[in-house]
Amino acid sequence: MRRRGATTSASEIGLLKAHCVTLSVNGQKFPLTLTRAATLLHTLRNDLHLNGPRYGCGLGQCGACTVLIDDRAARSCVIPAVELDGRTITTLEGLAEHGRLHPVQEAFIEAQAAQCGYCLNGMIMTTVALLRSNPDPSEFEVRQALAGNLCRCGTHLEILDAVKGAVQRGVKRAAQGGAQT
Ligand code: FES
Ligand code: FES
Repeated sequence: MRRRGATTSASEIGLLKAHCVTLSVNGQKFPLTLTRAATLLHTLRNDLHLNGPRYGCGLGQCGACTVLIDDRAARSCVIPAVELDGRTITTLEGLAEHGRLHPVQEAFIEAQAAQCGYCLNGMIMTTVALLRSNPDPSEFEVRQALAGNLCRCGTHLEILDAVKGAVQRGVKRAAQGGAQT
C-alpha cells in the first residue's frame, strides 16, 4: 500500500506551479510570481502589505476579507490571486482620494459603528459596492447586502446608521461634484 503523502498528486503539482501575473491594486500595477495556492487575501497582506482586508474564517463565510473586484464585493480569502490578472482590485487602503477619506469611511467613523473593528473592512467594502450599484438603497436592501458580513460584537444598529449616513454624504458630495460614493 502506498504511504499517504508519499507522492505528489497531479492536483498538488498544479497548485505549486508558478505563474507570472500582474495585479492591478488601488491604481498600481504589481507584477508577481505566484502559485495557484496563493489566495488574493494572502497576496494582498503578505506580498503587498495591504492589511485592510482581514483574515476571519478563511472559508468565504464571514466577509472580513472583502475587497472590490471590478467594483463588486468579493471574498479575497477564497479566490486564487492568479485568476485576477488584468482585473481591477480595490482594497480599503484604496478608497481615500486626495487625502480625504471615502464618504462611507467618514460615515462609519461618525456613527461610531465599531467595537473591536474586526468586521469593519468587510462592512465598509460591501457598503461601497452596494452604493456604487444602488446609491439610495432601502433599509431592506442594506440589510440584504450586509447579511453575509458577520459582526461578533453586535454593532449592527450602528452599522445601519453608518450606511444611512453614507447615503447622505454621497448625495451631498455628488451635488458638490465630488468623487463617486
Ligand atoms: S475571511 Fe474571507 S470570508 Fe471570512
Ligand atoms: S465590531 Fe467587532 S466584529 Fe464587528
